[in-house]
Amino acid sequence: MLASKRILLIIGGGIAAYKSLDLIRRLKERGAAVTPVLTRAAEEFVTPLSVAALAGEKAYRDLFDLTDEAEMGHIQLSRSADLVVVAPATADLMGKMAGGLANDLASTLLMATDTPVLCAPAMNVRMWDHPATRRNFEQLQADGIRFVGPNEGDMACGEYGPGRMSEPLEIVAAIEASLGSGPLSGKRILVTSGPTHEPIDPVRYIANRSSGAQGTAIARALSALGAEVVFVTGPAEVPAPDRVEVVRVETAQQMSDAVDSALPVDAGVFAAAVADWRVASASDRKLKKTRDGLPALDFAENPDILKRVAKLDDGRPALVVGFAAETDNVIEHATAKRERKGCDWIIANDVSPATGIMGGAENAVILISDDGAEEWPRMGKDAVAERLAHKISDALAG
Ligand code: CTP
Repeated sequence: MLASKRILLIIGGGIAAYKSLDLIRRLKERGAAVTPVLTRAAEEFVTPLSVAALAGEKAYRDLFDLTDEAEMGHIQLSRSADLVVVAPATADLMGKMAGGLANDLASTLLMATDTPVLCAPAMNVRMWDHPATRRNFEQLQADGIRFVGPNEGDMACGEYGPGRMSEPLEIVAAIEASLGSGPLSGKRILVTSGPTHEPIDPVRYIANRSSGAQGTAIARALSALGAEVVFVTGPAEVPAPDRVEVVRVETAQQMSDAVDSALPVDAGVFAAAVADWRVASASDRKLKKTRDGLPALDFAENPDILKRVAKLDDGRPALVVGFAAETDNVIEHATAKRERKGCDWIIANDVSPATGIMGGAENAVILISDDGAEEWPRMGKDAVAERLAHKISDALAG
C-alpha cells in the first residue's frame, strides 16, 4: 500500500504517456497522492486536463508559470514528494538528466530534487541501443537513479525489441519496492538460475539449453515486490536483473558454495538447470586426438543443491521451491521429485522439444504443493514469475 506517500510524476513526451494515465489511477487506488508534471512534448500525447482530473491535483507544466511559483516554488515542488517517478522517461529526458540540463520545469525539478528518482524508460529500440542512451543510462545508474524496464516487445513504431515502457502495475511494484513498502520488503530470498557449465578440459564443457530467462524473471518479480534478492546464476543468455545481488558461477559445485554463502534466507527458489554430473577429473590441458581412439569421460555426481537446502535441520528457509523439467508423465514425475527432494513446492514444466519452452519466451507450469497440482495456463515467463512472486509473498505472510 502507498497510503500517505506522495509521488511526483514527471510525464515525458512519448507515445507511452497514455500508460501514465493508468499509472496515476493505480497509484491513487493504493492511497498515494500524485503530483503530475508534464513536459511540453507530453502535452502532445496526453492532455493536462485528463492528467489533472485523474490525479485530483493541478498538473504542473511551465517553469515560468508565476502562479505556480507563488503557490509552490519549483524547489519545494521537487522535494515535497517521497519519490520522483519519470514515466515515460524518453531518450531526451534521460539525456538531460545525465547531462545536468535544466531548461524546462521537468528537467529543473530533476536537478533540484533530493528525493530518490525512479525512471521508466520508453523509446524506440534503436534509440535505446544508441551509444548515447547507453552512456546516459550508465551515468544515471551511477548517479543512483533507479530504473524499471524497459520491456522487450512489439513497439508502437512497428519494431521489436527493448524500449517498451513497463506496464503500470510493474511501475507500481517498482515504486513500492523503492519506498520499501512492497509486500516482500524485509524478506531475503535466494534464486538460483541458468545452466551450469561442467568443464571437460580448458576449452570444452558440458552444458544444457537453459537460457536463465525464467529464473531471471522470478528474481526481478520478487525484487519488484520489495524482497532483497540474492541471485546465484550460471552462465545465462539473458542479462541479470537490476537491484539484486548477483553472484555469478559456472559449475554446480560453485553454485552450491554460493548458495551456502547466501543462507540464511526466508525463501529459496531453485530455478537453475543444474548439471547432474560433472566430468570426474577435468583435464587441465586440452584433450588432443590420439591414435589410441576416443577419449573416455568418467562422471561424478554433482551435489543436489535443492535437496540439501530443503533437508537442512538448521536454517532451512521457511519456503523452498524447486523446479522439475520433465518430458513425460509431468505431474507424476514432479510429485515424486517433490517428495524425494523435500521441497515445499515444485514448479513442474514440460520441456519436451515440441513445447518450445526450454529457451523460449513462454512457460506452461503446474504448481505441486501439499494442496495438490495446480495447473497454470500457458503464459509469458514474466507473467509466471509475477504470479509465483505473489504466491510466495502470500505464503511468507501467512
Ligand atoms: N537441482 C539442484 N541441484 C542439482 C540438480 C537439480 O538444485 N544438482 C534442482 C533444480 O534447480 C530444480 C530441481 O532440482 O529446482 C529439479 O531438477 P531436475 O534436473 O529437473 O531434476 P533431477 O534431480 O535432475 O531429477 P531427474 O534427473 O530425475 O529429472
